[in-house]
Order: sequence, then structure tokens, then C-alpha cells
Amino acid sequence: MTMTLLRGRLLSFRRAPQSFADADSYFYEDDGGLLIEDGLIVARGSYSDIKAAAPEDAIEIDHRPHLIMPGFIDMHLHFPQMQVIASYAANLLEWLNTYTFPEECRFVETAHAERIAVHFYDELIRHGTTTAVAYCSVHKTSADAFFAEAMRRGMCMVGGKVMMDRNAPQGLLDTPQMGYDETRQVISDWHGKGRNHVAITPRFAITSTPEQMEATAALAREFPDLHIQTHLSENHDEIKFTSELYPTAIDYTDIYARYGLLGKKSLFGHCIHLSDREADAMSDAGAVAVHCPTSNLFLGSGLFPLKALARREKPVRIGVATDIGGGSSYSMLRTMDEAYKIQQLLGERLNPLESYYLMTLGNAEALSLADRIGTLDPGTDADLVVLHAGATPAMALKLEVVKSLAEELFLMQTMGDDRAIAETYVAGKAAKSTLRTPAITA
Ligand code: GUN
Ligand code: ZN
Repeated sequence: MTMTLLRGRLLSFRRAPQSFADADSYFYEDDGGLLIEDGLIVARGSYSDIKAAAPEDAIEIDHRPHLIMPGFIDMHLHFPQMQVIASYAANLLEWLNTYTFPEECRFVETAHAERIAVHFYDELIRHGTTTAVAYCSVHKTSADAFFAEAMRRGMCMVGGKVMMDRNAPQGLLDTPQMGYDETRQVISDWHGKGRNHVAITPRFAITSTPEQMEATAALAREFPDLHIQTHLSENHDEIKFTSELYPTAIDYTDIYARYGLLGKKSLFGHCIHLSDREADAMSDAGAVAVHCPTSNLFLGSGLFPLKALARREKPVRIGVATDIGGGSSYSMLRTMDEAYKIQQLLGERLNPLESYYLMTLGNAEALSLADRIGTLDPGTDADLVVLHAGATPAMALKLEVVKSLAEELFLMQTMGDDRAIAETYVAGKAAKSTLRTPAITA
């Protein structure tokens, strides 16, 4: 197998940065070399050292002056909502009922699901995202299309067939037994195939009867290593309706806890309005709160207290995500720009090192997948993003006065989008420049 040698500036986090100047939290090489073989990173270091160690026939690709980082990870988005994005609604429940549920009904059609799956992965790659955690629709066909296309592209994906058996149109409902049987079938068809991971996916407590929650509890017991994903505490009307549906639960988080869904592999979208008791319960269980800033602003759901949750005596683990189609951008750069602004409004600071840590190693740790993705460490998968800080004329002008790596990262977070993604590598192969519908890049 021929090796590939990438040359460029290398950046990879070792741990969560403690401050704007925390240089020990990351590995940085100004003229770096990254050696790739068979989809894996085999060596990294200074270009001269890696070049000397590389075989003569290694294919060399020079990305200077761009920055090579681990590919971005998106911890929460909805595959069947590519045509829901940019829907005009007053709030979450109106948005779900008016646009989202009718659109998801279309995924009963295999041809539709397969067509959208192609666009889905094209869009992720265009934005530098190499791993994502997705909700499919209630239909098994949607999960089949989602995982088949991930496998064709060699991408590491987490996803699940949604389970929902009430409070939605008939075309979008399963039953406790169907949800259980079809989830088991999706696990047997796809989990561990290629780089696929199946997640147990009850949509949220509003759309699952107690009987269906029992079925998810059974799945969680039978498959304790699988991720579990659902929504929690996103919107005040949602919280009120949920407490009416589960009157004996202490609070929203307690509903999931009662069904054994609160654990280290549990990923809870939003978590904006948690009480102290709920945050303690999340922390004790090691569950992850997934922040979806563009969605929270777009739907007017609220301001996620990221810094406050992270610095509690009992800290809550945090991931970051686009939440397409409640979210308004596929770009993790745009996502972290909005995350920054939310913390500004809360009187907090989110420094750019933290943002880039969260998009890469932080999300990999939140997924318990940091041994495979999220860093440039030798032995891990060669999923990479190549970032171009001068991608637009306005960015190039600002770049003239940028004095540090942190400032350059902040510039890309503040002004960047898919144009700042010079290339995306999936398992060592250039994936953005080879898209069938390449975007115009500066
Ligand atoms: N809660 C339940 N379903 C959804 C969804 O599709 N999007 C968002 N943002 N919240 C939800
Ligand atoms: Zn969601």
C-alpha cells in the first residue's frame, strides 16, 4: 500500500485547554509532516523528520500554509431534515408539527432516503465534518440508506432509527414492539459494519409512551455498549408538556433515568434549562449534554450555560453540534461562532482553543471514541480537515494582522464556513476535492 505524506501546519489537542495561552494542551508543528497508510496515521512530526523516515514512493501533498487538524465531529443532527432547514416557525413544537414531522414522513420511500443520504455526506465533507451522530427517521429504510452511504464513503458515523409511538402523524409512528424489533434489526445489519455505530434513539419523552420507554430500556440493557441519543430540556413548553405526560417523574431528566437511559454513552441534545438536581444527575451518570447553538438561537429555545455546566463542582460532560435542520448551518465553524456569542450574552468567555478542542478531541471524548478519532495521534484514523484562514478576501485582509495561532483560529471561527475548508480527508483519502458537486473555493 502506497503511503501518503501530507505537509502543512499540524494542530492536534492533547486535552481541554485551560486558557487562551495554554500551549501544553495541544501539539503544534509549523512545518509538519503527517504520514498515512491504509487509512491510518502512522507518524507525525516535523516535515524533515517524517520525510526522512518515509518510503521514497510516498505520495506527497503540500498543504502549506494551511492548517491540518483532525476532522470535525458533529454530535447531533437529523439526516431527514436537510429540507427542513430554514423553516419559519415561532418555536420548537410549532416547528416540529408544521415542517419537521411532515417532511420526515417522506423517508418511508427508499429512493428518497437514498437520494438525501448522498447530499448529506456531500455536505458534511464540504464542511470538514468527518464523523457525525445522526437521527434517522422512524423508518428502517432511512437508517439503511444512512449507513449504506457511510460505508460506501468509509466514514465513521453514529446513527439510529428513531423510535416514536405518539404525538406525531400516523406515517411517523412505530409501536413499542416495532421500535424494539426494527432497532434490533438495524443493530444486526449495521453496527460494526465498516465504521458504523448504531445508537438507540427514542426521539424524546413526548413522542414515546411509557411502554415504548420500557422497550428502549430493554435495548439499553441488552446492548450496554451502544450510544443512546435523545432530546432533553430544550424549550419551556416542551418541558411543561413532558411533565404532564410523566407526572410521577421528579423532572425531565428523571424520566430517562427511570428507564435506564442515563449513562456514559448517553447523548442528550440541548439541555438548556436543567435544574441543579438534573445537572448533578447528569454528572453522576457521566452523561453528555450536547450543545446546539445555531438551533437554540434559530428556534428561540434559550442560552445554553456551557461554561457554568463545565465548571460545576459536579461538571457535566459537553459536546457540540449543528442540529440540522433546527440548526441553521452545517459548518462547525459557524456553530462555534454562535456558541461563542451565547457565552458572551451570558457574561462568559469561550476561548478559541476550547472551541477547536470541542469540535475535535472534546467531541471524540464525549463519544468515547478518542482512541480512533479526534486527534492526529499515530495509530488513529486519518480523518482530517485542512483549514484555510485566508479563504475569502475579507478573511485574507484580516489575516494580515493576525499575530498568533489562537487569533488565526478565532478568525476562522468568526468569519469562516465551507470556504475555509481547503480539503477533507476520510480514512486518508481526499474527499472534498473529489466530490461530484465541488463548491467554488477561494
Ligand atoms: N425534539 C424532538 N425532536 C426534535 C428535533 O427534530 N429537533 C429538535 N431541535 N428538537 C427536537
Ligand atoms: Zn435534535
